Amino acid sequence: MIFSNIVNLSIAGLIAASVGQAAPAARNNGKNGKGSASTTYAECQRPKDVQGTQLQGCPNNTLYVSQTDPQSGFGSIQQAILSLPNDNSSQVILIGPGSYHEVVNVTRKGPVTLLGMTYDPTNWENNLVKLWSSSFINQTTQTAGQDNADAVTLTVSPNRAASLIGAGPAGAPLQPEFGNVDFKIYNIDVANRATVNGKEFMGQTGPSAALIVAYSNFSSYGSTYRSWQDTVFVGRNGSALFYGS
Ligand SMILES: *[C@@H]1O[C@H](CO)[C@@H](O)[C@H](O)[C@H]1NC(C)=O
Ligand SMILES: *[C@@H]1O[C@H](CO)[C@@H](O)[C@H](O)[C@H]1NC(C)=O
Ligand SMILES: *[C@@H]1O[C@H](CO)[C@@H](O)[C@H](O)[C@H]1NC(C)=O
Ligand SMILES: *[C@@H]1O[C@H](CO)[C@@H](O)[C@H](O)[C@H]1NC(C)=O
Ligand SMILES: *[C@@H]1O[C@H](CO)[C@@H](O)[C@H](O)[C@H]1NC(C)=O
Ligand SMILES: *[C@@H]1O[C@H](CO)[C@@H](O)[C@H](O)[C@H]1NC(C)=O
Repeated sequence: MIFSNIVNLSIAGLIAASVGQAAPAARNNGKNGKGSASTTYAECQRPKDVQGTQLQGCPNNTLYVSQTDPQSGFGSIQQAILSLPNDNSSQVILIGPGSYHEVVNVTRKGPVTLLGMTYDPTNWENNLVKLWSSSFINQTTQTAGQDNADAVTLTVSPNRAASLIGAGPAGAPLQPEFGNVDFKIYNIDVANRATVNGKEFMGQTGPSAALIVAYSNFSSYGSTYRSWQDTVFVGRNGSALFYGS
């Protein structure tokens, strides 16, 4: 199994991290995901047998991303996000089963909910949607302009400057803009699988985040975050809630 040695962020119950704190990580015992995540969107998330019915049970105007279903509007998650109006409207995106190799960057202010399709939203062990990319910062060769924020799978932040970690006790300079007021992710396994010489590197590479949240409100339900180093970063003015994740 590809991820067997990777630290798996798994938090039973409810943990909130805010301004400048990294979310606490715990070792996964393989059981604590069960029964703890949300069923709010269960009917929408349930894979349907009949073609054309997948959006039944979903909020109106839900966008649909799938790598295989011709009824979907998008083949990648980032494409769907970029199609959203840059306003305060609430938007929901349903994502079909599959392994999405892409970087996802959410900058809009209006609420966004990403729903991974699943038969069992209460247990991340049964997740059907994976989101991953492969990148890391080599701290030996790191240039002045390079930052942990440049090697991330999922970033929720208004812009690059806001997602920077920076250096020293002060970190990156304060930013004026706030990003997403209510980003939610359900039942998606997010990973940064850093590669060296074209192969996934099973060891310490350098900062390689699965998730960065900054100047944004973020909540995670039934989702997982994996990488070898600096897996989750909640930066300045970021609020993050991990529930059954
Ligand atoms: C969703 O759309 C249906 C059909 O157009 C409509 O009857 C319903 O009121 C809408 N629901 C909401 C919450 O807007
Ligand atoms: C979004 O909401 C903010 C704060 O309420 C407001 O200042 C801004 O004008 C709104 N933007 C749009 C495009 O409606
Ligand atoms: C995310 O996208 C925004 C808008 O395109 C861009 O300004 C920013 O640099 C990106 N953030 C990262 C971390 O790549
Ligand atoms: C960030 O937090 C500080 C301290 O609470 C606050 O003064 C500032 O307005 C916030 N900035 C944004 C962009 O939300
Ligand atoms: C972030 O979420 C908190 C808690 O729901 C809310 O009080 C706050 O207004 C949100 N921030 C923004 C900028 O909307
Ligand atoms: C980082 O760069 C150094 C210097 O080029 C190199 O020796 C090392 O193998 C690199 N680390 C990784 C994980 O690729």
